[in-house]
Amino acid sequence: MTKYADAAELRARMVDRLLADDLAGWAAQVAPWLPALATVPRHEFIPDTVWIKNPRHWPTLLPLHRDDDPARWLELSYGADAVITQVDDGHPEGPGLAGAMQTSSASAPDIVAVMLAALDVHPGHRVLEVGTGTGYNAALLAHRLGAEHITSIEIDSSVAAQARTALFRAGYGDICVVTGDGALGYAPRAPYDRVIATAAVHSIPYPWVAQTRPSGRILLPWANSYTGALVALTVDEHGTARGGIVGESSFMWLRPQRERRGPVGDVVGDDEDRAAVHLTQLHPHSVVGDHGARFAIGQRVPRCQWRYWPYDEQTGAGVLWLLDFRSRSWAKLTHITPDASDHEFRVHQDGPRRLWDEVHAAHQWWIDHGKPEPARWCVTVSPHTQHIDLASL
Ligand SMILES: C[S@@+](CC[C@H](N)C(=O)[O-])C[C@H]1O[C@@H](n2cnc3c(N)ncnc32)[C@H](O)[C@@H]1O
Repeated sequence: MTKYADAAELRARMVDRLLADDLAGWAAQVAPWLPALATVPRHEFIPDTVWIKNPRHWPTLLPLHRDDDPARWLELSYGADAVITQVDDGHPEGPGLAGAMQTSSASAPDIVAVMLAALDVHPGHRVLEVGTGTGYNAALLAHRLGAEHITSIEIDSSVAAQARTALFRAGYGDICVVTGDGALGYAPRAPYDRVIATAAVHSIPYPWVAQTRPSGRILLPWANSYTGALVALTVDEHGTARGGIVGESSFMWLRPQRERRGPVGDVVGDDEDRAAVHLTQLHPHSVVGDHGARFAIGQRVPRCQWRYWPYDEQTGAGVLWLLDFRSRSWAKLTHITPDASDHEFRVHQDGPRRLWDEVHAAHQWWIDHGKPEPARWCVTVSPHTQHIDLASL
């Protein structure tokens, strides 16, 4: 079997997987994208070196070169997960050749499909993509709308150069790939009918609104330290964009908005024994397991990251960490049964903030407000302000 046949077969399997999935309710809107997904050779956009999670020393990332394991490289290219294509902005910082932070990737096929569906494009639309990455998503857009209608902007010049080469080779060389900070949009080709960001933002850059036509749509992964959501906005004739949450998302940050992340030990240090201890009746899973609760908590408790290791038989415990890197505050919740049958959980917390108390209070606020779904939150972006509010019923 030739390499091409292998790739075609894997691509067909990728499409079958997407067809078998309800895609968070977007399956019907994904249908018009199936010809593009079945045709665009995703593996031709994946660089020869990709990065995989180090099973022995998570969360470090190890390089996998195409020549070392061509079959695995190809399978990763069409797998269900994102393919990490750059770490540490191209300068791996871990010990040896390992990387620490994912800085560019080909997003997972299901989120690619959901975002394209939610973008709601129509023939003739002109699209700005922020975060070219491999160029794969830009190629899908070009397949459907025509390469001359697509502008894509990438902050990293080497990533942008690779994407240009891959797009040219795959026949989409007329896409305008710009090297620059996508937070500024790209005014020379504005206005756009659609703007799609493939890197997360906390503060939505106003140029995206200013460069979108009235009644045009902006789709972006929005995030805070606690959670992420897919936000769709419609721009009005006065230059204000309004909309809300249309799904979940988990993306790497737009570079200028990146927040510091790191291992738990960076915040906790050797202080664990000195922490205040008490008991709580709220199961750790309640504050991280439901998107609605996560969104409400993230809105009310700023700068709080979490790491959750559900119950594990080997250690006989599950652990939730809450972390604020800036104030070096942390909380740790432990549960010791595999299901939700623990009635009390041990809480350790330390630092200037009492993170568990804040998260617990925010969770109670969510319950008191009728457990609003993420779709109940409204996002408004005008030239001078932006806010997210809970819509009244
Ligand atoms: C998840 S990847 C994009 C995936 C891509 N759309 C694809 O199809 O492969 C996010 C990309 O956003 C880029 N990026 C981060 N900050 C940016 C910025 N301020 N402007 C433009 N691109 C940015 C990163 O370098 C990275 O390549």
